[in-house]
Amino acid sequence: MKKKDVWRIGVAGLGTVGAGLLELVSRRPHFAPGGGLVSVTGVSARNRAAKRSVDIAAIPWFDNPVDLARSTDNDIFVELIGGSEGPAKAAVEAALAMGKPVVTANKALIACHGAKLAALAEANGATLLFEAAVMGGTPAVKMLREAMVGDEVELVAGILNGTCNYILSEMEASGRDFRDVLADAQRLGYAEADPTTDIGGFDAGHKITILAALAFGCAPTYPAAEVEGIDQVELLDIRLAKDLGYRIKLVATASRSAGGVSVRVHPALTPLDHPLARAGGALNALFIEGRTIGRIFIQGPGAGAGPTAAAVAADIADVISGAVRPVFQAPATTLEPFIPIDQSRATGRAYIRLLVKDEPGVIAAVSESLADAGVSIDSFLQKSVEGADGVPIVLTTHTAPEAVLSEAVRRMSALPALLAPPRVIRIARI
Ligand code: HSE
Repeated sequence: MKKKDVWRIGVAGLGTVGAGLLELVSRRPHFAPGGGLVSVTGVSARNRAAKRSVDIAAIPWFDNPVDLARSTDNDIFVELIGGSEGPAKAAVEAALAMGKPVVTANKALIACHGAKLAALAEANGATLLFEAAVMGGTPAVKMLREAMVGDEVELVAGILNGTCNYILSEMEASGRDFRDVLADAQRLGYAEADPTTDIGGFDAGHKITILAALAFGCAPTYPAAEVEGIDQVELLDIRLAKDLGYRIKLVATASRSAGGVSVRVHPALTPLDHPLARAGGALNALFIEGRTIGRIFIQGPGAGAGPTAAAVAADIADVISGAVRPVFQAPATTLEPFIPIDQSRATGRAYIRLLVKDEPGVIAAVSESLADAGVSIDSFLQKSVEGADGVPIVLTTHTAPEAVLSEAVRRMSALPALLAPPRVIRIARI
């Protein structure tokens, strides 16, 4: 875009991040290096009268975000509404179709429609940037989009959801169970009133889908991601895992091999001294592994008004500087969806926890189920828990095909001494 003295932005969505951006612009309107002044010339949100930390009375209001996106009174459209469909998608499409640059924090939109939006952007000579969509204020997108292009990225793995990280950390620290900690987190405003997107792993699934696309030069392919959340993680497992030297984290992984791409989010045991295990509270953390560079580790806030607005502002600064790149790592017309690896051929290690009757021969029967399926035990622990019916037995396995591990679990599930279904959590391979 041509150099301007004033860059006019239209902001759709005035929640935490939108209000944070308005505050940032009013405090530092010259934040774009070498650029002009940034001015908010239009806003749109669901409710004009909602209580906000910023005064919007003097900014032109648009009831419909699509009208704001199409308005010639702004040069850059900033979408902070959220959601993969509906007004967010319609407004982004409207701006891109007229060649207007778009900055968004919307991970669901990019994970689900990124390739089509990239094609629309590139066909119309518009920029589409989404640094704030992944890890909030911690620059993961720019890292992959810009800094790593000289290398071939083979693995991206990390903690991408602060709400889940907070809940798991708090369960361990306070000894309270999942529901109790979640209720507290909602009361304190750390978790959404409807927490499904976070605790179900879907938010992290959207984010790792975007990172995989940037890392491997393919189209974001959210349906190919395998997603499991933290709602089944029990305090007992957090405690037993710790006794074995691990901490349970919600880990998102994208890896590439000759067989294709694997994109997964699931609870995983991480060794206590591993950097991901040490990223506590609401922190986000990420490993990027390049063939020649090796491993890079970044950690920081993945949410919050200030950090996320700073990431949006960094994208606005990129638009102002005139930086032009394909939205992903290749022109959108050449992007292919991921080829997911055949998960039945995947291998891994597992933590398996059983609740059994305390009677002779149970451990032998458990060992036999594993041996018969061809799974080798790495460690084994039987621990009485006061007041509990039965005894927890917990074991970790050596690496085995996941199909073989599933067969061993199926055999154990049939043991008469079992008091509850086995609980299986993967051990992180990072
Ligand atoms: N809800 C997200 C989280 C923050 O808990 O990490 C926004 O992406």
